[in-house]
Amino acid sequence: MSTFVVVGGTGRTGRLVVDRLAAEGHEVVVASRGAAEAPAGARPATMDLAAPEVSVFAGADGVVISVEPPKDPAQAEAVMHHGVAAVANVAAREDIPLVLVSQIYLTRPAEHPEMAERIEARARGEAALRTSGAQYTIVRPSWLHDLPADGVRVEQGDTGDGRISRAAVADAVVAALFDPSASGKTFELYDDPESPTPDWSTVFAALTEDPEHAGL
Ligand SMILES: NC(=O)c1ccc[n+]([C@@H]2O[C@H](COP(=O)([O-])OP(=O)(O)OC[C@H]3O[C@@H](n4cnc5c(N)ncnc54)[C@H](OP(=O)(O)O)[C@@H]3O)[C@@H](O)[C@H]2O)c1
Repeated sequence: MSTFVVVGGTGRTGRLVVDRLAAEGHEVVVASRGAAEAPAGARPATMDLAAPEVSVFAGADGVVISVEPPKDPAQAEAVMHHGVAAVANVAAREDIPLVLVSQIYLTRPAEHPEMAERIEARARGEAALRTSGAQYTIVRPSWLHDLPADGVRVEQGDTGDGRISRAAVADAVVAALFDPSASGKTFELYDDPESPTPDWSTVFAALTEDPEHAGL
């Protein structure tokens, strides 16, 4: 049995990640501001990612961050940039694999001016993670929905648009946590009925590593 920390494990995608890890017999710590609402069986750890409590990650075998950015630009910067960077530094120091749930449009915030500042804060968090020295994977969902997964298309380069099931995102996140070939890679996810059940290890192995990856 391993121990995983899911920051944002009370959220809709985070809960699915927690459920999958718990179903595999792992201990799961749910870290969020409202961690008391953690799914049954998970250990709650009240934490604001804007000021992450380092001890929460002690002894963890993997960390997932699936946190919705605050609307306020300064708070978004505190959570999605500095908070992510702080956890990335812990992950690097303790050699803990970290999977960050991000979003599409990271490289083209002008396409969504209404959330451009949140996207830019998030991009700075991604960049900090890439150069942290941690073993990381960045999963960028397109627009999320709660219907069952309807196939998955994996892309890199952040040029697409579309929708993706939260269930498929959770599958990708959990697969990446356990697969070293996902390390140092960033990819986008879209529904695609023509690609029913991806073999994640084959998909991860075929992806291009991020050029900024510190390399391990
Ligand atoms: N909605 C979309 O279409 C879309 C598209 C692409 C990517 N995404 C991203 O995909 C991820 C999952 O989205 P979702 O809709 O499943 O999430 P969600 O249901 O909105 O859940 C968000 C989670 O973030 C936690 N959280 C928020 N602020 C936090 C903070 N300061 N510190 C710690 N935890 C915090 C919340 O817990 P507490 O409130 O208890 O703190 C909650 O568990 C998010 O990163 C989201 O931005 C969303």
